[in-house]
Amino acid sequence: VSLKPYNTFGLQACARKFRIFKTVVDLQNTLSQIGTSPLLVLGGGSNILLTKDFDGIVLKNELQGIEVLEETADHIFVKVAAGEEWHGFVLECINNNWAGVENLSLIPGTVGAAPMQNIGAYGVEIRQVFESLEAVEIATGTIRSFSNEECEFGYRESVFKKALKGKFIITSVLFKLNKVPKYNVSYGAIQNTLEEMGVTQLSLKSVSDAVIHIRQSKLPDPKEIGNAGSFFKNPEVDKIDYEGLKAMFPAIPSYELPNDIFKIPAAWLIEQAGWKGKTFGEIGVHKKQPLVLVNYGAGNGNDLKNLAFEIQESVSDKFGILLTPEVNII
Ligand code: EPU
Repeated sequence: VSLKPYNTFGLQACARKFRIFKTVVDLQNTLSQIGTSPLLVLGGGSNILLTKDFDGIVLKNELQGIEVLEETADHIFVKVAAGEEWHGFVLECINNNWAGVENLSLIPGTVGAAPMQNIGAYGVEIRQVFESLEAVEIATGTIRSFSNEECEFGYRESVFKKALKGKFIITSVLFKLNKVPKYNVSYGAIQNTLEEMGVTQLSLKSVSDAVIHIRQSKLPDPKEIGNAGSFFKNPEVDKIDYEGLKAMFPAIPSYELPNDIFKIPAAWLIEQAGWKGKTFGEIGVHKKQPLVLVNYGAGNGNDLKNLAFEIQESVSDKFGILLTPEVNII
């Protein structure tokens, strides 16, 4: 089965077997039959780089449903099936005046994939509105619940990318959304865009519209140009390294985190290393956002992996910083 329609890079690769599951029972039945075959679970396929055919079973999560479980004075608890499209859920929140995910508008992918890497944008991460999730253990088929703490969220990290990697399939996420919005418009780009749009009174819709506008102006639409968003994480360095870098590269942008840690935009490092907008046949480095690698159509996953490796090397040579991929390379 061709996986080309199921990955936003639009890369050609085949899977030996392909199964769609639409209910948890469906999933449990499939798991009981697969034995020791390698498994790849796909949501929206928006964070993977397929470098070769997959000699195993691909499971596509199509669990659907959005349900309000509880309402308190300040919060609304909404359970969302993992196969729901993330942005569709965000729009549902905005329509219902449920606050907390408006800054996360237009992120490609599914709800189930969101906690895997603690998706984030414009100062907000999913962990801030995440209550718990349910997942099926692959080895046993049993359902287990994970609290916010148990997910061990970090910057584009969770326990599902570390200790429990490949062990669970997320089936639903419970969100704790706010009835009264706490707007986060600290990002300069959001403020500028709201101003351009002539917004004087913030609303969930206006913040979401601003985010959509910024994303559309910088990030390629996967329907037009294959990509998986940011390819690398923004690296973090300690104070000593940061001061060394600042001395050598006075223009280096940075963002200070607690404990004397400095986050450096990978996009800047890649641009300075000369990669911005470079094209190599069918693949390349996006011209507006060099952190995004692109497939113009007939690109090959292995070539993209090699390009990523070359970028990594040249950034490491120039700055002594090792970029780590955010995308899962398969
Ligand atoms: N920059 C450049 N050259 C460029 C573009 C950006 O030097 O051509 C530098 C600038 O200094 C700019 C900085 O990079 O201020 C940050 O750029 P941007 O705001 O576009 O965000 P980013 O750090 O590159 C991160 C996330 C995005 C998220 C945006 C907005 C990661 C790995 N990426 O990108 O998430 O949408 O912030 O909050 O943290 C994703 O994870 O796939 C993703 C798209």
